[in-house]
Amino acid sequence: MNILELENLSVEVEGKRILEDINLHLPEKSTMLFFGPNGSGKTTLLLTIAGMPGYNITSGSITLNGVDITSLDVDERARLGIGTGFQLPPEITGVKLRDMIKICAGGRPGDDLTKEERNLIKRFKLDDFINRDINLGFSGGEKKRAEMLQMMALKPKLLLLDEPDSGVDVESLKLIGRELQKYLKASGASAFIITHHGDILEHLDSKYACVLMDGRIWCRGNPREIYDTILARGYRECAECHVRHPMED
Ligand SMILES: Nc1ncnc2c1ncn2[C@@H]1O[C@H](COP(=O)(O)OP(=O)(O)O)[C@@H](O)[C@H]1O
Ligand SMILES: [Mg+2]
Repeated sequence: MNILELENLSVEVEGKRILEDINLHLPEKSTMLFFGPNGSGKTTLLLTIAGMPGYNITSGSITLNGVDITSLDVDERARLGIGTGFQLPPEITGVKLRDMIKICAGGRPGDDLTKEERNLIKRFKLDDFINRDINLGFSGGEKKRAEMLQMMALKPKLLLLDEPDSGVDVESLKLIGRELQKYLKASGASAFIITHHGDILEHLDSKYACVLMDGRIWCRGNPREIYDTILARGYRECAECHVRHPMED
């Protein structure tokens, strides 16, 4: 069974074609990493799956756990178990982190934190941040930790994470990677992770990876092999390899 299936997906943003004929299957209980140069369409793909307004699907379909979600709104998709972690987490004035954690967990702002939630906050080293407005004045790494904390409270079945490791120091990266792996293993959830770094692979049990360039998937394979190839020879090698060995679905 696949948790996610993308069939012939093409997407426009503001009338501009960004993604072209994406075909992709993610088996349940698995993690896929996404590599690709800046501007290749990675964030667009993630936000299209999440159902963010403005990402116009011109053809193709998105299926989550056997349900066609192509025409569902972002909130309906979230209710079906999709959780999204943003590349640039927004600052939300007037909403405290502790209230957002309660909302993510299905409670109401102002409710007391449970022991489990307090534990989670401690593990993410965010005790001093919970009474602050979300992300306001947080450093890049603090925002990413707060984003992951909200995700763990939400308990999604499919996590869409856009560069959870960007701007994060080595200790926070270890923390995020380990907590993520622990959650995925315990819950049986799946994840789709965009990254520019191989370091997160040290902590994650991931069998699948893709390279996206110019709005198309150019390569699929083992994450470590793909990452090492990109490091050694650059994305150009992915394009050349694709010409030598055209990808089959
Ligand atoms: N709202 C938008 N309006 C116009 N172009 C956009 C918009 N959002 C993204 N794009 C363009 O789509 C392309 C892919 O962007 P993005 O998905 O953010 O790439 P990546 O995440 O791989 O760096 C870029 O050329 C970007 O400028
Ligand atoms: Mg991006």
